Amino acid sequence: MVSFDKTTLALTTSLAAAVTFSSVQAAEVEVLHWWTSGGEARAANVLKELMEAEGYGWEDFAVAGGGGETAMTVLKSRAMSGNPPSAAQIKGPEIQEWGELGLLGELDEVAEAEGWDELLPPTVADVMRYDGSYVAVPVNVHRVNWLWANPEVLDEAGVEMPTTLDELFEAGEAIREAGYIPLAHGGQAWQDATVFESVLLATGGTEFYQQALVDLDEEALGGETMVEALETFKRLRELMDDDMSGRDWNIATSMVIEGDAGMQLMGDWAKGEFTAAGLTAGEDYLCAAAPGTQDAFTFNIDSLAMFRVEGEEREAQQALARLALEPTFQEAFNLAKGSIPARPDLDMSEFDQCARQSLEDFQHTADAGGLVPSMAHGMAVRADVQGAIFDVVTNYFNSRDMAAEEAAERMVNAAQAAL
Ligand code: GAL
Repeated sequence: MVSFDKTTLALTTSLAAAVTFSSVQAAEVEVLHWWTSGGEARAANVLKELMEAEGYGWEDFAVAGGGGETAMTVLKSRAMSGNPPSAAQIKGPEIQEWGELGLLGELDEVAEAEGWDELLPPTVADVMRYDGSYVAVPVNVHRVNWLWANPEVLDEAGVEMPTTLDELFEAGEAIREAGYIPLAHGGQAWQDATVFESVLLATGGTEFYQQALVDLDEEALGGETMVEALETFKRLRELMDDDMSGRDWNIATSMVIEGDAGMQLMGDWAKGEFTAAGLTAGEDYLCAAAPGTQDAFTFNIDSLAMFRVEGEEREAQQALARLALEPTFQEAFNLAKGSIPARPDLDMSEFDQCARQSLEDFQHTADAGGLVPSMAHGMAVRADVQGAIFDVVTNYFNSRDMAAEEAAERMVNAAQAAL
């Protein structure tokens, strides 16, 4: 897409200069995403470089803000003004919402030429299609229910990686006594929701998670297990520091990296930060399933949805879609991003032990049950329901006097109001 400045430049320079300008101007894509932390930016850069190597231009449309809420707001206003980017990081059920608006373009030719139907697990492929046509391409599989830790801090406190919620509280106490912040957290709605869904999973198991956060079952949302999950979630505040309000997730990860904090509950994009800092999994930092969720996997699949565009931009967009599923990109991107490839046929020898565990657990939970979509990361419910649940979770977490029973009631209302 030619930006206003370039157009102006081309029009106001001499004809010869304008011709020179347009002849060197390759087809380009404008890509909206929110990958701005150290690890995320390294990962996004892989795609930019691969596009440039094929002679296409890349106009970066990065909107900072973990979880992508701000990026989605900006995307909506661009789309409303009739000027969407060529591609945008849009995930899960939201792909359908954009499809319903008639704004997405199809990728069927690329998909057929590259054999996407055979490459992708059917559950992943389904999410990428609207009305029978591919409209998005998956770049990875993130796992959300992880615990990250600094082994030196754990050693100082004389504790091991906690495997249950009780152990998490015990380890937290010991870490506090040893003089460190037990749990690094950023007080933002999506981060609160990220921690909450892991606690809920540990409290009620995957069936309960599915009923409450995916099926929006009223009894599950308003019942005793929910109250218990909410209470435990709130108790985690005891392990967090007083300055967490508004803190970005990657700053929380750097507190673990620096040894100011012992642990963080966060999806494996956090691994991208450890990797960018030159640290090695299993030595310099530890990863384990979030306490009490060893048999579950909350998945979060990043994908690039394609807007309806024409001409050269469409050509570049189709190249982008093709490259995004090719082994070169899938490997380099996911090594930097902390996730695992979206296609299961790749050689994982370059990947660290956390990524290998992720793949193993993904396959195991897919067969045995336990594979559930992340509510906090837009994979489980539509955006309006997700937003309403975020409000309840974060208001309850920050309220001095809201009882868990009241928060559970509000959960029921949130799901109903948004239906
Ligand atoms: C998630 C997204 C990840 C990561 C994270 C933090 O929603 O899927 O790719 O960027 O937010 O921003």
